Amino acid sequence: MPSFSQLFYVAILLAVAITGQSSPVLSPRHLANELYGLAGASASDYTQEFDGTGTAFTDRDAAIEGPAYLTYSVVPNSTYNVDACLATCDRVPGCVFANLFYEFNNNLLDNVFSEKSNLKCALFADIYTAADKTNRGGQQLTPPPAGLTYIQQSTGWAANALADPDTPDGYELVFGPVYGANNAPGYMGYVFLDKYDVNACATACNNRDPDPQGGPCQYFNIWRALVGGVPTTYTCSLVCLRIMNGHTRIH
Ligand SMILES: *[C@@H]1O[C@H](CO)[C@@H](O)[C@H](O)[C@H]1NC(C)=O
Repeated sequence: MPSFSQLFYVAILLAVAITGQSSPVLSPRHLANELYGLAGASASDYTQEFDGTGTAFTDRDAAIEGPAYLTYSVVPNSTYNVDACLATCDRVPGCVFANLFYEFNNNLLDNVFSEKSNLKCALFADIYTAADKTNRGGQQLTPPPAGLTYIQQSTGWAANALADPDTPDGYELVFGPVYGANNAPGYMGYVFLDKYDVNACATACNNRDPDPQGGPCQYFNIWRALVGGVPTTYTCSLVCLRIMNGHTRIH
């Protein structure tokens, strides 16, 4: 388990049951959170984080490198196949970000793998930016006279469920952090989730037996713990309204 101080670095999403209105969500850059892609999701469930640098003869780009790397697949390259890549992300547990790019002079892609496609779809459990484009290729993967590997048209796609999660019915987002993760007054316990799932946390709060002193669960605090930049656990902490009321402003 990560230490508390490590946990404190993760951003907090705190919601309060009150009006059912939705409110602006935190910027994705400030959310340390995570979600499986939803089955059947499409490109509309993702937001393009950055564009590629083009496919002209001399254009060069770089693939994302980051600790939350999961795996990659090769997708058909008859078109620049964003949908196929995002469908792959949907199927891979923990995937919230896809980096799609062409890789040239890779013998495996050109001649060995059955797909016969140079269009790679790299999947990650965290959102990256263009600043994380650091893998420019440069490997001799095909014997000379073939050149070194190089990258073109590297685009990044973030799952909206993480970058812009919907507010669960009956809840309103409150900007945190208000409390540390596990020691809030009115704390009713927690459940581990297998993903960053705001709705699952809301359901856990809705179904929680009332606290004898504090009353029913009215707040939840969902957060992800990162160790070395890699998402590890997802915690849904439950807090009852009556005690919270004395300690924080209710909108
Ligand atoms: C698709 O990838 C294969 C294998 O790398 C390559 O030979 C071919 O030129 C690519 N086709 C297009 C349209 O990019």
